Amino acid sequence: MDLSIIGSGYVGTTVAACFADLGHDVTAIDVDQSVVETLNAGEAPIEEPRLPELIAEHAGDSLRATTDYDAIRKTDATFLALPTPSNKDGSIDLQFMKAGAEGVGEALSPKDGYHTVIVKSTVVPGTTEDVLAPIIEETADRSQGDQLGIAMNPEFLREGTAVADFLNPDKLVFGSDHPQAIDDLHGVFAPLLERHDAPVVETGAREAEMIKYANNAFLASKVSLINDLGNICKELGVDAYEVADAIGLDDRISAKFLRSGLGWGGSCWPKDISAITHVAKQHDYDPPILEAAVAVNDLQPRRFLRLMDQHVTVDDEPVAVLGLSFKPGTDDIRNARSIEVIDGLQSRNAEVVAYDPVASANMLEIFPDIEYADSPADALEGAVAALIVTEWDEISGLDEEFDAMAEPVVIDGRRAIDRREGLVYEGLTW
Ligand code: UDX
Repeated sequence: MDLSIIGSGYVGTTVAACFADLGHDVTAIDVDQSVVETLNAGEAPIEEPRLPELIAEHAGDSLRATTDYDAIRKTDATFLALPTPSNKDGSIDLQFMKAGAEGVGEALSPKDGYHTVIVKSTVVPGTTEDVLAPIIEETADRSQGDQLGIAMNPEFLREGTAVADFLNPDKLVFGSDHPQAIDDLHGVFAPLLERHDAPVVETGAREAEMIKYANNAFLASKVSLINDLGNICKELGVDAYEVADAIGLDDRISAKFLRSGLGWGGSCWPKDISAITHVAKQHDYDPPILEAAVAVNDLQPRRFLRLMDQHVTVDDEPVAVLGLSFKPGTDDIRNARSIEVIDGLQSRNAEVVAYDPVASANMLEIFPDIEYADSPADALEGAVAALIVTEWDEISGLDEEFDAMAEPVVIDGRRAIDRREGLVYEGLTW
């Protein structure tokens, strides 16, 4: 099929490249000319494993990019994969999705024949049917039915494994109140289902929207719960990882997402939990567990720094921050725990020396006045404390490099290394 993907960010670029790899003919549409040029040059505009290879293979053939929305007319179906950031009050900001829906509708208006529009972005329940569909129908001058199909198809891509997650999904969710649009999604995903068997959930648009929020809220709450229990463990001298290994044997719990420590960041969980909480409050329901999950997550960087304070005074002293990205495998620093940690160090007047294999350039925009080391060893040289914030392999592999520290204080927020002779070592929850 001929597909168009509106938005070439983390989700849109992965979706475009993977659909091209599945045999579709894909047009990526983005307002950013430099992103369009990067894609057409066969390069990836974002850091994501396997994406460069897919784009290099298909660019100029079954994958192309443009800024021109009119290209939609030559395609059968269009995915909306635009940002849905948070407003200051925590509510979802739909400005980009509304503008995208309007652009799609206007581009469709002159088209004869049927077209499917699929919402890929994470939007609060009711958005597809009550906000975006009316905009598309009005600007495309057609109603859902024999000329237009509108559906919601959430993604569950993790940064660092997005291509693998797209090509090996644990489920596909097709949400629409119109059976034809559900059929359209089966057509789009047929090549994937031929390669990889996965359950297909057919449901309403609202349910599909809520499935995405529930998936993220559940995972974030699971991490916050193990962190809550991990904090108790730390106070009682118990190793939370030993506890997690044991409870993870209960298949109702599973071993996944039980790594206690500094907690969660990223572009999705914080904004999604705040958006769904905001919607709940608009309906006079304050979700206590979701609010508690955020509260525990907010605690972790503070507890982490207090552990450091117990062993060393960092006023006017160099402190190594090892790891900046919100998790290994990505250069993304959105809502990264390193931001709160560096803030806390600066409020202690420490001289921060940060290291990350790929994310330093991004962090420079937030903290231009700290030092960025080219290697973990350089960051550790003369430091009075080493704070492990992201569990990159090269940080987990450190050993003799700690000998160059002025004080051998290591505070580990990610169970990245084991305690060892010669180090004053503290684990955040162990
Ligand atoms: C998440 C969801 O997993 C994905 O399905 C959704 O589409 C987007 O949001 P992502 O944000 O890329 O994906 O990261 P993920 O791997 O889920 O980790 C989220 C955060 O939780 C990271 O900051 C990570 O460090 C933290 N985490 C994860 C833990 O602290 N402990 C764990 O055991 C797992």
